[in-house]
Parts: sequence; C-alpha cells; structure tokens
Amino acid sequence: MKQVCISQHPLVHHKLTLLRRATTEPKKFRELVRELSQFLLYEATLDLPLQEHSVETPLAPYHGHQIAERIGLVPILRAGLGMVDPILDLIPTAHVWHLGLYRDHATLKPVTYYNKLPPQVDVDLCLVLDPMLATGGSAVAAVTVLKEWGASRIKFLGLIAAPEGVRALHETHPDVPIHLAALDDHLNDRGYIIPGLGDAGDRLFGTG
Ligand code: PRP
Ligand code: URA
Repeated sequence: MKQVCISQHPLVHHKLTLLRRATTEPKKFRELVRELSQFLLYEATLDLPLQEHSVETPLAPYHGHQIAERIGLVPILRAGLGMVDPILDLIPTAHVWHLGLYRDHATLKPVTYYNKLPPQVDVDLCLVLDPMLATGGSAVAAVTVLKEWGASRIKFLGLIAAPEGVRALHETHPDVPIHLAALDDHLNDRGYIIPGLGDAGDRLFGTG
C-alpha cells in the first residue's frame, strides 16, 4: 500500500520500545508520545507546498519560503490530545478541531460525542491525530466526518496500528495517507492491538 508510511527512524524504534513498556509511568509516557509525534509530523509533512517569502536579515534581503497551506489538527479524544501540543510547537499557526469518539466496549463501534467543526472548511490540510489504529472504526468515522465537512486533503498520523485498522482505513478512504511509527501483529478478541501498548488514553492520563 503506497499510502502507508511506517517510520524506519532508529530513534522512533527506540522511543516506541520505551513507550510500550508496561512500567513506563504516565509522565514518561506523555513525554515519549510528544517526541514520537514530532518525528511522525516531520515525515508526514515532507510534501508540504511552499510559497516564496522574503525577509530582511540584519545585513541583506533574503528571498526565502513559507508554508503555503493552512493546516488543521484533528485530535480524536481522548488519546489524540497527547499529540497536539508537540505538533503545535512545530506548526504554531495550525487550527485545532477536536473530535470526540470512543469505542463501545461491547460492539467496538465508534460513538461520536463531540464535534464542533466550524460551518466552513478553513484549512487546506487536515492531520487526524490518534496514537492507536485498532479496528480502524474511529479513524474511518473521523475521516468521514471531515470529508462530509468538505475537507479535501487529509492525512492520518498514529503511533501503532493493527493490520485490520490499516486495511479498514485504506479500503474506505484510499486517498488518505497513513503515517505510523509501527505496524503490529494483530488484534486480540477485545479489539486491543497485540503487542501494542494497552489503552493509550488510560496510559496518557493515568486512568488505567
Ligand atoms: C482508542 C484510541 C482510538 C480508538 C482506536 O480510543 O485512542 O481512538 O481506541 O480503536 P479503533 O481503531 O478500534 O476504533 P478509546 O475508544 O479507547 O477512547 P479514549 O481515547 O477516550 O480512551
Ligand atoms: N485503543 C487503545 O488505546 N489501545 C488498543 O490497543 C486498541 C484501541
């Protein structure tokens, strides 16, 4: 699948191993999610268009560039929140639109509980943020909401995926590139990614 990019960066492998470790406490977990999100963002934005932009250095004019697109970050609550600040640090002009979705524990289907997208699309590129892509139900629902809103360029950024989730997202939205730190082995019978890292929201916010 050409649209699926799995990071091969040695630092990503190293940090992801620490993130998965059951004894990694929430403070360290949040720090690792921060760092990994910035590596993923770097890889996911290599194709951002530029426009010419001139500035004055203390000594001379300089004919440089600036990012030509307006960028929207769309974290899926709760766990996607952990990816917002590190990305805002690098793209401070990004807009942030939260989508509240949780997986029903019995059906594993996504349930929407929060959506305050503005009436008009005000960004050129939407980055959907969620550390975990398990069955793919939440990511598929989020991208569907964004397309119904009118978004045309959408990318998904996640830390760990199961093959089932990548397949579901790619089959439903083949135009959406998927950027991951790792592709794991399978889902267990409760819809958890194996080996995975457990419940990302609980580990981020200490609610496990
Ligand atoms: C987790 C995760 C994704 C979803 C992935 O959220 O952050 O949003 O599960 O699963 P899926 O691919 O099968 O839809 P969860 O529903 O646990 O909510 P939370 O972040 O509020 O804990
Ligand atoms: N959501 C998580 O947080 N972890 C999983 O393994 C699957 C869904």
